[in-house]
Amino acid sequence: MDLIVAVSRRWGIGNGKDLLFHLKEDLRFFRRMTLDKTVILGRRTLDSFPGGRPLPRRRHLVLSRDPAFAREGTEVFSSPEAILEAVRDLPPDEVFVIGGGEIYRRFLPYCRRAWVTLVEEDRPASVTFPNLYREDGWRLSSLSDEYEEDGVRFRFACWTREAPHAL
Ligand SMILES: NC(=O)c1ccc[n+]([C@@H]2O[C@H](COP(=O)([O-])OP(=O)(O)OC[C@H]3O[C@@H](n4cnc5c(N)ncnc54)[C@H](OP(=O)(O)O)[C@@H]3O)[C@@H](O)[C@H]2O)c1
Repeated sequence: MDLIVAVSRRWGIGNGKDLLFHLKEDLRFFRRMTLDKTVILGRRTLDSFPGGRPLPRRRHLVLSRDPAFAREGTEVFSSPEAILEAVRDLPPDEVFVIGGGEIYRRFLPYCRRAWVTLVEEDRPASVTFPNLYREDGWRLSSLSDEYEEDGVRFRFACWTREAPHAL
């Protein structure tokens, strides 16, 4: 499986429920990468979507400890292991971990690639992502030219991992 995330200069990804940035080109990239794929997300990230509704044209596997939690258009799982089991037979490049902070950390060891939008700006953040420059086994494998929107500069990067844990 892969993951996809947008990080600030100091690897912040969210503040409370909110994203730190709303960059059109980044949202387009996210959509293009995940459309018609399976996405893995935490219950709090699902709640942060408009109306708490799943994104169109994506199969949503949601992690929650609440046995009563259910949301139309999603499949809810009570453990990371149950999600790993559910995606074991899917093509690895059709499964994306899409956040948030708790879920990225839990699934990072199983990811082969991390698609990271590196935003050259800092915003106050209560939720962070591990700095991949410092994570063992991860290698920066591609970096795009710079983009700019409303004075905010960003690049699309991809990290790859030599030996992800087997699912
Ligand atoms: N920058 C980006 O690319 C990006 C992408 C996505 C999200 N975000 C941001 O990330 C933030 C949300 O992240 P977060 O860390 O607060 O929450 P999260 O990872 O989205 O979801 C956490 C929830 O997942 C469930 N969970 C976690 N571990 C579990 C386990 N082992 N077993 C069962 N359920 C488990 C729990 O749900 P229950 O409480 O229901 O038990 C927990 O409250 C928001 O600010 C959002 O905007 C940023």
